Amino acid sequence: MGFASEKGISPLRILFFLLLLVSLHLFASPLEIIRPINKSVMDESEITVVVKVTDPAATKIIFSDGQGKEWVRDIKVGKQIYCRTLSAKMGENNFGVTVMNGEIKRESRTVLAYYRSEIFSGFQEEPAGYKKSYFHSDKEEQLCKTCHAMTDKPLKGGEVLENPEDSACIKCHKGLTTRAKGHAPTVNGLCIECHTGKGGEYNSDLIGQSKYIAPDPIMNVCFTCHENVKQVWFARKSEHGPVRDGRCNRCHNPHSSNEMFFTRKPIWDLCTTCHSEKASGAHVISSFVRSSSHPTRGKPDPARPGRELVCTGCHDPHGSEGIFLLRTKGQTAFSVCNRCHKK
Ligand code: HEC
Ligand code: HEC
Ligand code: HEC
Ligand code: HEC
Ligand code: HEC
Ligand code: HEC
Ligand code: HEC
Ligand code: HEC
Repeated sequence: MGFASEKGISPLRILFFLLLLVSLHLFASPLEIIRPINKSVMDESEITVVVKVTDPAATKIIFSDGQGKEWVRDIKVGKQIYCRTLSAKMGENNFGVTVMNGEIKRESRTVLAYYRSEIFSGFQEEPAGYKKSYFHSDKEEQLCKTCHAMTDKPLKGGEVLENPEDSACIKCHKGLTTRAKGHAPTVNGLCIECHTGKGGEYNSDLIGQSKYIAPDPIMNVCFTCHENVKQVWFARKSEHGPVRDGRCNRCHNPHSSNEMFFTRKPIWDLCTTCHSEKASGAHVISSFVRSSSHPTRGKPDPARPGRELVCTGCHDPHGSEGIFLLRTKGQTAFSVCNRCHKK
């Protein structure tokens, strides 16, 4: 039964319309979260929250990372857009924004985002209902452009930015560059060396969804700069699955991390993620001594002064001349022992 077929308009309908108008006005949200899209999936820990505040009574805005940390900003007259990058924890995050009038709460919004990682069990896959939503399309960038430079001027071969802080990419993605160990091209703002937008063998279906989609596998891009190691690793006898697949980023965060060589976890933890049964070290000497084990950490590495013994004291994660990726040219497991135990 449509409106057109009605003969007169009942007072009840007028009331209904008035209520609708009032509620529409109320819900012309005085606080709107523009980014991130609710229930989106992230592959890095830094997530930007962009909000639009139109509540005339708002005097300050509070961003919350859902883990107990808050950032307060004053609302400026005539300024509606507020941006804040927050660090996500692995898995589900519930970011919040609240606008206040003095100490009185006006309005609150929350937004869910899932930070996933291939190498942390329990967080490899997003729960149902979450979806990857890319940002860097002309449409999404439109609003930001009014205040932000969106790209750097192209560099010629070999050229670097004089001051990486000036990089448009780094202005918005600073958090990727500030961890303890930074990867040279990232901290220098050479993002598009890797973020070519061209996609790869496993993600060619994503071409066009973001200007900056990185190829997957990424290996060939890594080798444009790490040419010397390519020659060595692939000439070797034993290979390592994840390297052969070209998935360097499974173990290395290509941007930065708190670990040396910007591995995603401390090396021992990284290796035992996929080889938990090797943690005890029993495998090292089981072929020589029965029911005993060899340390795999917690002692100085005699062959690498200043470094702790870890799995990579004996194994090269990328490939080796010996068997089982051992750091030896010898063709028996025993030949690696004298790397540390001199006779
Ligand atoms: C009205 C101007 C304006 C618009 C529109 C705007 N920004 Fe911002 N943004 C700023 C200003 C100014 C800053 C510097 C920090 C501050 O004072 O808020 C900033 C800072 C940022 C930061 C760094 C935040 C941090 O915590 O270091 C990011 C990331 C960002 N903006 C992303 C965006 C994105 C994405 C959009 C588009 C969806 C956008 N901005 C739209 C003005 C704007
Ligand atoms: C105005 C801020 C802003 C600028 C400038 C910016 N980005 Fe982003 N970028 C974002 C936001 C917001 C996202 C969504 C994920 C997030 O919250 O961090 C994003 C996501 C990405 C992604 C993930 C894929 C995607 O499209 O979602 C890549 C890769 C990326 N940016 C690379 C770059 C590079 C390279 C540059 C410089 C050429 C750059 N960004 C400049 C704000 C910005
Ligand atoms: C050495 C290559 C390399 C460089 C340099 C690099 N990245 Fe990345 N980046 C990657 C790869 C590979 C991924 C794919 C996902 C992963 O492994 O985390 C990625 C992922 C990202 C993501 C998260 C994507 C998502 O879908 O959530 C953002 C954001 C990003 N990069 C931004 C940048 C910015 C900004 C710079 C420069 C300051 C930069 N990257 C430099 C290789 C690189
Ligand atoms: C644009 C050039 C460039 C690209 C592409 C590049 N790197 Fe690098 N990388 C460098 C430079 C420069 C250094 C620092 C100098 C050095 O130690 O070799 C470095 C250092 C490293 C180091 C630390 C080496 C050490 O001995 O401390 C690792 C690990 C690394 N890169 C891994 C990667 C991975 C993985 C990729 C691909 C995802 C990659 N790189 C892509 C230029 C690049
Ligand atoms: C299985 C995990 C893993 C994968 C996959 C991996 N790496 Fe590494 N990489 C490491 C670890 C661990 C180290 C530190 C080794 C050590 O302790 O000496 C390292 C060290 C490095 C270094 C420093 C110098 C050296 O030769 O040891 C470079 C450069 C490097 N990796 C590049 C790459 C590139 C490029 C790829 C992809 C082709 C890749 N890595 C894939 C775990 C990995
Ligand atoms: C992402 C999972 C993953 C990680 C992380 C990983 N490995 Fe592996 N590794 C594999 C797979 C899969 C194989 C199976 C054999 C193959 O394809 O190389 C393997 C095989 C091996 C082998 C036997 C190679 C042979 O010739 O039989 C050694 C040794 C090894 N890994 C050592 C390490 C060390 C040391 C680390 C830490 C630097 C590490 N792995 C990290 C997945 C992983
Ligand atoms: C002190 C040297 C040493 C250390 C440290 C060491 N390994 Fe080994 N690893 C060996 C030797 C020797 C072999 C070959 C022994 C055999 O199985 O015959 C081997 C073999 C392996 C294999 C292949 C054998 C198989 O059964 O598939 C894997 C995988 C492996 N190690 C992983 C690790 C991991 C992960 C760590 C760290 C937790 C580690 N290793 C620490 C010496 C070492
Ligand atoms: C990367 C260096 C390294 C390599 C290679 C290495 N070891 Fe060790 N080994 C150590 C360290 C460190 C210790 C601990 C010494 C200590 O307790 O202070 C150790 C201890 C031992 C012990 C005594 C174990 C105990 O529990 O007291 C034996 C036996 C041993 N190694 C045998 C071997 C054999 C066999 C190989 C070859 C398969 C080998 N090691 C290869 C570093 C190495």
